[in-house]
Amino acid sequence: MNFRASRTEIEGNHFHQWGTAEEVDLYLDRCQIETPLELVDKVWQCVMQHRQRVGDVIDFGAGDGRFAAKGDYKKYTGYEVDPLRWSKAQLPKNAKLIHRCAFSSRLRGADLCIGNPPYVRNQDLPEGWRQRAARVVRQRTGVDLSGLANAWQYFFFLALSSVNDRGLVALVIPYEWVSRPSSKKLRDYINSQGWGVTVYRLPDMTFGRVLTTASITLVDKRTRDGKWTYLAQHGNEIQKKRFAGGNKAKVLEYERATKNSPLKAKRGLSPGNQKIFTLTEAERAELGLKIGRDVIACITSLKPIPHSCATLSAKTFSRYYRDAGRRCWLLNVSKETSFELNAYLANVPAVDRGTATCKLRENWWEFSMPKIPSVLVATGFRGKGPKAVVNAIGAHAVGSVCGIHGPSASFAKEIARKIRNTEVASKIVAHSMGLHKLEINQINALLMRLLAK
Ligand SMILES: C[S@@+](CC[C@H](N)C(=O)[O-])C[C@H]1O[C@@H](n2cnc3c(N)ncnc32)[C@H](O)[C@@H]1O
Repeated sequence: MNFRASRTEIEGNHFHQWGTAEEVDLYLDRCQIETPLELVDKVWQCVMQHRQRVGDVIDFGAGDGRFAAKGDYKKYTGYEVDPLRWSKAQLPKNAKLIHRCAFSSRLRGADLCIGNPPYVRNQDLPEGWRQRAARVVRQRTGVDLSGLANAWQYFFFLALSSVNDRGLVALVIPYEWVSRPSSKKLRDYINSQGWGVTVYRLPDMTFGRVLTTASITLVDKRTRDGKWTYLAQHGNEIQKKRFAGGNKAKVLEYERATKNSPLKAKRGLSPGNQKIFTLTEAERAELGLKIGRDVIACITSLKPIPHSCATLSAKTFSRYYRDAGRRCWLLNVSKETSFELNAYLANVPAVDRGTATCKLRENWWEFSMPKIPSVLVATGFRGKGPKAVVNAIGAHAVGSVCGIHGPSASFAKEIARKIRNTEVASKIVAHSMGLHKLEINQINALLMRLLAK
């Protein structure tokens, strides 16, 4: 359906206050995830375990009102902004949809807030949307959300503040909220109120293509024991888990490296758009860019190399990256740029350099070159732990590859070996389908542990 005809031209919407038509369109497109009907049933079953009877229900981001169609309650009110969604609704008599932004709601006395809020990353939130949602959350809860929060976090706070003192919140949200630093404000807020939390981890394929493990999360304001219960399905059985990672082992903690830390993990460089800033060997050669003068070796992923690989040597680099056609050359823009490099930069299409990072720079391509790490570690991994190699060729860590700074050459070898051999998977929450992701400060915590051994 055409965007202008279907979305912005609907009278009374507030989209123009959110951002440009393109930003709103992108945001609404990202929201287009429908909850499978079996999952809607499952959420209601979870609700019924906490409440025998349900009075007033609120649903923020109600879509076609599918949560209204399935439950047993006195009254249901849904908020849905997207006409592509609410035009399909078929509601029971005691349910209604309001075609306005959820953050315009003044409700605070619902018995239940149910639903599946949008998973939209902070980078894709229209600025006007974000500012309004942040203001509403601040006014309602006193919590200042950082610009890094994902859309569902604003909706979660809105839900918590829309139910009464004995109310229940039941939402489908990413499972990782139980441990990630990015959700700490939510956990702190809930803990400070002493509400009971039940987190039911959903099987990985629940949302098919959405690469995030989801959960049904219930926050019960009536139980004030501050207890967190973790549940997961095994076969046909629902089992209680002791720790958020879903295993018996303790969750890997987070630790910040200090100025004096002998070892420090640092995030891989985010130059703005890997497609522009990192080139394959063939691209480099065709553009006449010289190694050293115009480009420097880099690694954007450790996926190509075997887990047993200990060192990124010139030979390994050639075999798995340079000769294999992978992106392995980072533009060297730290000093005066050559004629060839200038020619390349001048021909980069505007759409490719339209990223937030490039737009923030005076010269869209100019960034300061980070230090070269001694060890390269993959932050994402399958299996028992991450890959780690000694950086013998002085490659830069880009994207999901993190760099370890500080160790001497011999110690770097030991650190890389210890990381490769450490079992980490059971101590962190799986991101999705067996893929684990380590945050930088989890790698820092791991380094502290290895140092203490
Ligand atoms: C993940 S979908 C869920 C839809 C539906 N509840 C379901 O379960 O299938 C999130 C919904 O939130 C809506 N939405 C996003 N931002 C909104 C806002 N500020 N106010 C109201 N609805 C919003 C989107 O249009 C989308 O339909």
